[in-house]
Amino acid sequence: MDIAAALKLADDLVFVQTGKRLDYVQQAILRGTLKKRTYTQIAKEVYSSSSHVRNVGSELWKILSEGLGENITKASLKPILEKGTFYNYQSAIVENITGETVTVNNKLNICYKKAHESRESPKTPQNPQPTAKQPRIDLGDAPEILTFYDRTSQLTTLENWILASRTRLIAILGLAGSGKSAIALQLIPQIQHQFDCIIWRSLRNSPPLSALQTDLIKFCRGGAPVPALPVPALPVPALPVPALPVPALPVPALPVPALPVPALPVPAPEEEGATTGGLPLQYLRSHRCLIVLDDVQTIFSSQQLAGNYKPGYENYGTFFKQIAESCHNSCMILLSWEKPREIAALESQQKSCQTLQLNGLGESARELFTEKGFAESEKWSELIELYRGNPFWLNTAAAAIQDLFNGKISDFLSYDSLVLGDLEYLLDKHFQRLSDTEKQVMSWLANQNKAVEISKKPALLELSPSEFLKAVESLRRRLLIEKVQKGDRTLFQLQPAIAEYIKERIK
Ligand SMILES: Nc1ncnc2c1ncn2[C@@H]1O[C@H](COP(=O)(O)OP(=O)(O)O)[C@@H](O)[C@H]1O
Ligand SMILES: [Mg+2]
Repeated sequence: MDIAAALKLADDLVFVQTGKRLDYVQQAILRGTLKKRTYTQIAKEVYSSSSHVRNVGSELWKILSEGLGENITKASLKPILEKGTFYNYQSAIVENITGETVTVNNKLNICYKKAHESRESPKTPQNPQPTAKQPRIDLGDAPEILTFYDRTSQLTTLENWILASRTRLIAILGLAGSGKSAIALQLIPQIQHQFDCIIWRSLRNSPPLSALQTDLIKFCRGGAPVPALPVPALPVPALPVPALPVPALPVPALPVPALPVPALPVPAPEEEGATTGGLPLQYLRSHRCLIVLDDVQTIFSSQQLAGNYKPGYENYGTFFKQIAESCHNSCMILLSWEKPREIAALESQQKSCQTLQLNGLGESARELFTEKGFAESEKWSELIELYRGNPFWLNTAAAAIQDLFNGKISDFLSYDSLVLGDLEYLLDKHFQRLSDTEKQVMSWLANQNKAVEISKKPALLELSPSEFLKAVESLRRRLLIEKVQKGDRTLFQLQPAIAEYIKERIK
């Protein structure tokens, strides 16, 4: 059976039904189903949870069943394809999509209307103007995400910013393990058909900006014609001037002099990345690119206030600013523990730059305990609140509960102190980044029994009032201090796991 042909058919059918093309997950489900793979195997392939893939699958079978008037399920898809019924619809569907002679049954006439309407009036970002784009995707060393719960509202917000508002720079901020990489990976299949290329790079090894830009350009080029890079690609040598019958042809009229070659300062290919962002911006204008930069905190200095670039990395700030402020059609998503300084200033311009602070999973984290087969469901909310719904922290706690407390959450919760386990290693990484003044403020906060005001510098701290406020502001940018509103009073506190970690360290 020709899987590509089956995918094309299904894609057309889904388009007719919904006005949208098959996304990355739907394609993987169809491919996997035809290769007799389980949902769990397909989920691994698309970095998603089996429950999510199962949900997408059942929605897809519904759409296909409605379109074909035949009950399509994961089990029946292959036999139905082999029977040939599916293919009988091919010409009808194609006619529908082109919108030309509609000589098909009523059902498909109705479908035609749907597709036609959605092409003419895309109303919401959930119903974007359909395009048949097949983006080139390079997820580089993006992590593998096997489970994914909820985050529905955050995914909708991101989709709105990117598709409806055309926001050019988005920062997703959160502590380690909060799910920044996971949500970005989950978002990609939802919006990928709106992009020409999608690239994911981690800044984990602190690449200089020039190296990153060279890498981005290399991918954007991807062997395809690159109209935005005029000079090397210009067909000047290919112009058939010498071959022409010279006397007969008005050679001066050939467009050679009009080509913009001399006007553009074009670096040699190996130097392209060395320019300060101007060159990549040409690509971002001519191609709609989605660029995800993970681990952005690694380009910031440790032991200084948040958001200060390491020496030699300051040009990243200019680059981010250019991405937000210049006119282009692409989008860059930064995943970071710390808010870059430029973002704080650019946020006021709203449209060009947005920040999503990734808080906990809330009650949807209960699914994690269900999947792990925990009992004592009445204790789950307490545990979720204790770790502020951070999925990685909850997984770590769950492992400790299973290993040390024989799966009894109540024993874990009533232990003398909060068990950090492997979390300590992760929190070390956050702590090592702090300046001395921030460490002092953290120690002071860890020893408060309740949320406190910061309108006055605490007498105990040997810091000037301005040092104190700067340290608090910086800790807020690192998402290490929580704000609590009590009536008209704004109070600050550490979350329990962080307070416990700090107390352990300063013992
Ligand atoms: N929405 C979610 N549902 C279930 N698990 C999640 C979710 N988000 C993240 N995780 C899990 O938590 C861990 C940390 O997520 P990750 O995205 O790597 O965090 P970050 O990038 O913020 O450090 C991963 O194992 C991931 O599978
Ligand atoms: Mg990550």
